[in-house]
Amino acid sequence: MSRKPIIAGNWKMNKTASEAREFVDAVKNAIPSNELVDTVIGSPAIFLEGMKKGVKGTELQVAAQNCYFENAGAFTGENSPATIADLGVEYVIIGHSERRDYFHETDEDINKKAHAIFANGMTPIICCGESLETYEAGKAVEFVGAQVSAALKGLTAEQVASSVIAYEPIWAIGTGKSATSADAQNMCKAVRDVVAADFGQEVADKVRVQYGGSVNPSNVAEYMACPDVDGALVGGASLQPDSFLALLDFVK
Ligand code: 13P
Repeated sequence: MSRKPIIAGNWKMNKTASEAREFVDAVKNAIPSNELVDTVIGSPAIFLEGMKKGVKGTELQVAAQNCYFENAGAFTGENSPATIADLGVEYVIIGHSERRDYFHETDEDINKKAHAIFANGMTPIICCGESLETYEAGKAVEFVGAQVSAALKGLTAEQVASSVIAYEPIWAIGTGKSATSADAQNMCKAVRDVVAADFGQEVADKVRVQYGGSVNPSNVAEYMACPDVDGALVGGASLQPDSFLALLDFVK
């Protein structure tokens, strides 16, 4: 089963609008064809519109880093998935461990967001991942499996097949302590097995599973060589144009 690789940068709460513009100008003509790889930048919501203008006519796609699960209403400070979709944004990252931990997002919120993102014609990048404590207790597969099942609840087989799931062990995020490729492969396979159990093998063979956590230009190829790793979700190494472009060298 061949799945198209997807490399996504997650800028988190970094860059000003003008820094984002400079970044896009620096990389936009060097992005490989999206027949080979989907290349995505997850930008802060406040300059998503500028990002979409900046990438027009290029192979670069844009993700929001979060959204609310209602399209409109009295939800001060939240961003509507309908509004994000209207800008032409293709993906929304949901369930990042930083959102779960610092902003108390639950599996139920994440599931509602996944439904809302599909209802608005976008694709969710659904994050999952265990803490060091859970990893060391040998409970990562069980914990991550439950997160994945909960996030996908009630979606159609077609929606699940088109989803992106990012496995990001919390202990590897921003620490420089990346998972071994064997661990990444085992966990991405475990994620796929959960999708197979809930939605069937055909759907599981189509869903794209990324590894995230201290991915950089020197280790990305090793992850991409794993049969169940279809891409990477990258924080720190996605912030500089040279480093971001080097993450895409594996397709050459
Ligand atoms: P780092 O690549 O900085 O470890 O961040 C990973 C991440 O959280 C991407 O969503």
